[in-house]
Amino acid sequence: MDKLLIEGGSRLSGEVAVSGAKNAALPILCAALLTAEPVTFTNVPQLKDIGTLLALLAQMGVKVAREGDSVTLDASGLDNPVAPYEMVKTMRASILVLGPLVARCGEAKVSLPGGCAIGARPVDQHIKGLQAMGADVRVEHGYVHANVPRLKGARLFTDMVTVTGTENLMMAAALADGETVIENAAREPEIVDLANCLVAMGARVSGAGSDVIRIRGVDRLHGATHRIMPDRIETGTYLCAAAATGGSVRLTGTSSSYLDAVIDKLMDAGCEVVSERDAIRLSAPERLNAVSLRTAPYPAFPTDMQAQFMAINCVAQGVAMIRETIFENRFMHAVELQRLGADIRIDGNTAVVQGVERLQGATVMATDLRASASLVVAGLVAEGETVIERIYHLDRGYERLEAKLAALGARVRRLG
Ligand code: EPZ
Repeated sequence: MDKLLIEGGSRLSGEVAVSGAKNAALPILCAALLTAEPVTFTNVPQLKDIGTLLALLAQMGVKVAREGDSVTLDASGLDNPVAPYEMVKTMRASILVLGPLVARCGEAKVSLPGGCAIGARPVDQHIKGLQAMGADVRVEHGYVHANVPRLKGARLFTDMVTVTGTENLMMAAALADGETVIENAAREPEIVDLANCLVAMGARVSGAGSDVIRIRGVDRLHGATHRIMPDRIETGTYLCAAAATGGSVRLTGTSSSYLDAVIDKLMDAGCEVVSERDAIRLSAPERLNAVSLRTAPYPAFPTDMQAQFMAINCVAQGVAMIRETIFENRFMHAVELQRLGADIRIDGNTAVVQGVERLQGATVMATDLRASASLVVAGLVAEGETVIERIYHLDRGYERLEAKLAALGARVRRLG
């Protein structure tokens, strides 16, 4: 089981390039199922989750060609609309094949993803939407079985804002008979990136980025080339690492336009942030001010940045209140941060963080992707050595993490 060894104390400085967005690439790669023509994607991050999804698509009969950050998928030979439990259990975003398979094949058998460390994460809204579009959907023996000759456009309303729920229903609607309107749609930038890719493939989508998305179904989609947007959570994570260490960095191949809420909080914490056309520069003070936050759907503060901000609040001046409103169990990093000497009290979905002068290095355990990122941020500022165990969680969402951190002056290495 790989571990990461971090020697704390270096101020991060220098420049790194941000990779393509994991949470845009996952739905967009699934969109290739909607057409029998090849689709080419560039700026695809080389991550474990991407590899898992490509293997899932390949066992369905999709031809996968990969060269560096470019991936070409050819679903003309799609002949097995099944996503088996053994593959889905390792990556819950596999549920994103459900909508495209029903739309293209009229049937799908997709394992329920099951919960994960941060919460139960049901997919009832995905199912409700497909049923509203005329699909016969049954959940039996841990699988979602869906059948319909052709989906019909419908007016859909999701009970809560769901990112992959919105994405699944957008892709299903692209080939439906008639118009679909998704109300209470997620507004995340990754939704807009998916919509742009679908439109490039011939779909008729409007309103992406707002809470009402209209999709007028067409009979078929065609091939296209699409560049994946930058990863805003990777960007925010490196900004937090620089902020916590009193550093000064420049992140290229990214944009501040998807991170207003995060940049606002970094500036409240005392950082100077300068946005360039496709780069962001941050310089941090000797010590940050504590900043309180409350997670909520985009454009509010993203839940995927909550753990990283808890880490910077651990060494900031003052007390921060952190409220997590999206997932029911997304504070598991707190007990690990306490092992490093953090002063955190959890009360339901609120964490109260009293900043301390210094953290002390220790051995800690990663529990989920963003929790492990927060342990990296804390390890960079802790005195002495921090060893992070189970860093396969990190490899799911951060491309070449050690190399990028080392390029910024961090003393970090992977222990086999
Ligand atoms: C996406 O997950 C992201 N994953 C998550 O990023 C992110 O944390 C989350 O959106 C929220 O922004 C991908 O895009 C691949 P939701 P998703 O459906 O779509 C409840 C990371 O770190 N819900 O928006 O699964 C759900 O339980 C990952 O990169 C239902 O009850 O999240 C949650 O409480 C972690 N029924 C809330 O809604 C449903 O049918 C929001 O979930 C769907 C969701």
